[in-house]
Amino acid sequence: MSYPYQIKSLSEYQEAYKRSVQQPENFWADIANNFYWRRRWDKVLEWNFKEPKIEWFKGAKLNITENCLDRHLETLGNRPAIIWEPNDPEEYHRIITYKDLHLKVCQFANVLKNNGVKKGDRVCIYMGMIPELAISVLACARIGAIHSVIFGGFSAQSIADRLQDARAEYVITCDGAYRGQKDIPLKSVIDDALIACPFVKRVIVSTRTRTAVSMIKGRDVWWEDEIKKIETLGMKDCPAEEMDAEDPLFILYTSGSTGKPKGVVHTCGGYMVYTNYSFVNVFQYQPGDIHFCTADIGWITGHSYIVYGPLSAGATTLLFEGVPTWPDAGRFWQIVDKYSVNILYTAPTAIRSLMGFGLGPLQGKSLSSLKVLGTVGEPINEEAWHWYDEQVGKKKSPIVDTWWQTETGGILISNLAGVTPAKPAHATLPLPGVQPVLVDENGKEIEGNNVSGNLCIKFPWPGILRTTYGDHERCRTNYFATYENMYFTGDGALRDEDGNYRITGRVDDVLNVSGHRIGTAEVENAINMHAGVVESAVVGYPHDIKGQGIYAYVVYTGSHGGDEELARRDITATVSRIIGPIAKPDKIQFVTGLPKTRSGKIMRRILRKVAENELENLGDTSTLLDPSVVDEIKKGKL
Ligand code: WT7
Repeated sequence: MSYPYQIKSLSEYQEAYKRSVQQPENFWADIANNFYWRRRWDKVLEWNFKEPKIEWFKGAKLNITENCLDRHLETLGNRPAIIWEPNDPEEYHRIITYKDLHLKVCQFANVLKNNGVKKGDRVCIYMGMIPELAISVLACARIGAIHSVIFGGFSAQSIADRLQDARAEYVITCDGAYRGQKDIPLKSVIDDALIACPFVKRVIVSTRTRTAVSMIKGRDVWWEDEIKKIETLGMKDCPAEEMDAEDPLFILYTSGSTGKPKGVVHTCGGYMVYTNYSFVNVFQYQPGDIHFCTADIGWITGHSYIVYGPLSAGATTLLFEGVPTWPDAGRFWQIVDKYSVNILYTAPTAIRSLMGFGLGPLQGKSLSSLKVLGTVGEPINEEAWHWYDEQVGKKKSPIVDTWWQTETGGILISNLAGVTPAKPAHATLPLPGVQPVLVDENGKEIEGNNVSGNLCIKFPWPGILRTTYGDHERCRTNYFATYENMYFTGDGALRDEDGNYRITGRVDDVLNVSGHRIGTAEVENAINMHAGVVESAVVGYPHDIKGQGIYAYVVYTGSHGGDEELARRDITATVSRIIGPIAKPDKIQFVTGLPKTRSGKIMRRILRKVAENELENLGDTSTLLDPSVVDEIKKGKL
């Protein structure tokens, strides 16, 4: 594969950027011309941010899997599409060529059909990081079913909420998943979720851990048996369903500032073009390179830069089942050497955690294959950036600090590896086609450099979300109503003297814990479910490894027999049960009241300051209903 739209120099970047602003339609049409469309578009772009209505490549017909698989068969058929590294380094790895992957996707797509799944149906995927997860995703796309992947760390309750919201009648799962020393009983979690979801017609279970599972007659079937069935039926190939460019490809749930996660919807044409374009340019992928993105496919990073971006580019993508610190903290480095990985894309929280193990785990590792390093998910501090640069990249691999969101589909602001300059802790410049602006509270654009403000994007790009599933109004109010005619990101940012962006973090009530987005309201709702809790307030605080930790103030009247620690454990268990272990509070402080204004609004500013250990300058507390609670809170600070 060649990538004529790959930008090779700073001057090419500047030229491309200029053209993308002056003639966006021509700019994107030229890129889209490098894909396989069953039918061309009638119009490149139609949009208004008011409704919002955003349509890219309208009238075009395609199937994304023909771009990820079929079109590579002739030239790359025997090249590895997926390298799968199991959790346990002693277990055999798997290499799946483009030919194999095409075959497996077609087979499983036929299984889905044979089980009644049709174009437009929602299919929930709850699996560990095994090749069957990628195969499931692509098989849905093959037949035009809308996948909704749920990260394996979410609880039964969270799954049930998402199944109900999407009205998903089909579920694909595993018996269990391995992650480090843990063996997570996925099917059993699904069984709990389905008690509240009687509309689910079929659960297809892939075997991985051989844990005992209860297969419910008439509802649950084994992956392997279903493959045998379609073989007996003689179903081999599976022609791809012809999709409109604007048909939904998937739903992915993400947290916002309300208690209920929203189903971000991406569509077939624009998402395909944007993930491929950003993959090829940011990482400067060269044919034959091995690309290792350490994210889970349950998050957008995995969707875009393990599955769709790399495969549409004919790349080799490495899928790792395990965790960075098991069996030891050298696991990433061992994998890099084992497969001669060229591109490593991970999260600042992983880098900080590995830094904590010192240089021992790096000893005896060559890492000489690495050409490009990347980070994503949260701001990277300078110390971690330099460690990554020196100890992992040996100062010869450019680091791309990629800023984007579930809603943006792909990377919007980042340096292009080795092409545009990096700057520690800065995402730097927008990709051509992306028009960021900083605005003040009134939505007035802040021009010039050396300024800060709220980060918005003023023109659509093909990967932008189209709606939130089942509730378009929510999409409008969340992203397009804060500031007129702009997409609001929820992030604050600085722009330095050279126009480089530095993302400073969320400006709404959303936390970023280890690169995972968690709404404070969601955590509060979960804590409040505990019988002994009257009310609670949750804020973030700086955490050395996670970036942000979760600090909960809880008004508790339950009896705990004098054992506060037990009460804390009960609350933590409740959050785990309601949302999942990723949302567990790091600190729980019991208080007799929360600082509220006379109108009953919780003063989060004060709670944030106390959690951050800034006990002195709490600002004006005179408007509080009961200023004395502040002293109590300060005294009880954990
Ligand atoms: C939020 C989006 C995009 C995939 C992973 C997270 C933060 C993301 C960076 C970065 C600083 C970053 C932002 C953003 N974020 N990348 N390079 N530097 N902050 O996806 O769960 O949708 O979260 O992650 O706050 O809004 P997500």
